[in-house]
Amino acid sequence: MQIGILTGGGDAPGLNAAIRGVARSAFAAGADVLGVRNGWAGLLEVGDASPLRPADVSGILTRGGTILGTSRANPLAEDGAMEVVATNLGRLGIDALVAMGGDDTLSVAAALAERGLPVVGVPKTVDNDLQVTEYCIGFDTAVSVVTEAVDRLHSTAASHHRVMVVEAMGREAGWVTLMGGLAGGADMIVIPEFAVNLEEVIDHLHQRRRQGKTFSIIAVSEGAEVAGLPTPSAGGEPVDAFGHVQLSRRGIGERLGRQLEDVTGFETRVTVLGHTQRGGTPTAYDRIWATRVGVAAYELVRDGRFGAIPVKRGDRVETARLSEVITEPRLVPEDLYRLAQIFY
Ligand code: F6P
Repeated sequence: MQIGILTGGGDAPGLNAAIRGVARSAFAAGADVLGVRNGWAGLLEVGDASPLRPADVSGILTRGGTILGTSRANPLAEDGAMEVVATNLGRLGIDALVAMGGDDTLSVAAALAERGLPVVGVPKTVDNDLQVTEYCIGFDTAVSVVTEAVDRLHSTAASHHRVMVVEAMGREAGWVTLMGGLAGGADMIVIPEFAVNLEEVIDHLHQRRRQGKTFSIIAVSEGAEVAGLPTPSAGGEPVDAFGHVQLSRRGIGERLGRQLEDVTGFETRVTVLGHTQRGGTPTAYDRIWATRVGVAAYELVRDGRFGAIPVKRGDRVETARLSEVITEPRLVPEDLYRLAQIFY
């Protein structure tokens, strides 16, 4: 048997641990592994894949990114592309495919499984917003990057008596911003799920000053909006193959910081964490979780349970259907948001 592995969408720390989990289990069972390059792009046109040998997955547990490369190529968006993918699976001798990704990548995997092709998924996104699972590979590492940034901003903010705005990832769901902000003790957290207006932010800054707090740290998700801010310049925003706008171009952190300084007169600086949240070495948690779901994905293949995906439920790896992935994103619940507000 030959198992193909691909990683699609934004990279996430821990993907290599998951690749290693699939590959090492496969090797132990005498199966071969084919590494598909650059997500679904590696199954389009003439295909781009090469065998993974044991040496190729040795020493990758601790490495960030993905040794297979990734892309946001979307065969669902091009006429006839799904047929090309199906043909290439056969041509490359892939008996089963493990597709690792977020909702976009997994929507393609689900569509292939729907056509009866032997595909299983692995959930990955630093945004941690898949409804089907309580955890996605990469989230813990991203949260620790935000936490460290907020920690570091504290000392410089305190020294200069400044307002610090820190922009973190989060398209529709503010998990990374909220958890990083909570762990780092941010003084206000602005996420897409809960509307905030500029007046509230300004009042909060004044209130902190009245309490003798001469600095403030505001964590904001790149996908959040603050009512009352000048809107970002319309048009011309790049959109990926899945139709997502490049949110970093909206510059919520910069727009908020500038307005806060203009209105309050408090000296303000902005830090945009951007892709530092997706880069670098995975945390121990991400390595372990990715290893567990990688091995579980192999076991689904071994058992012929195609169209399935290993997910987190409590402390257990359980199995869901790939078709369940394509639902609304998993949003931050109100109680967690209110918890953060206690510490404002
Ligand atoms: O994959 C999720 C994500 O990290 C989002 O939080 C972010 O908006 C986006 O990817 C950035 O994508 P890109 O790497 O294409 O700029």
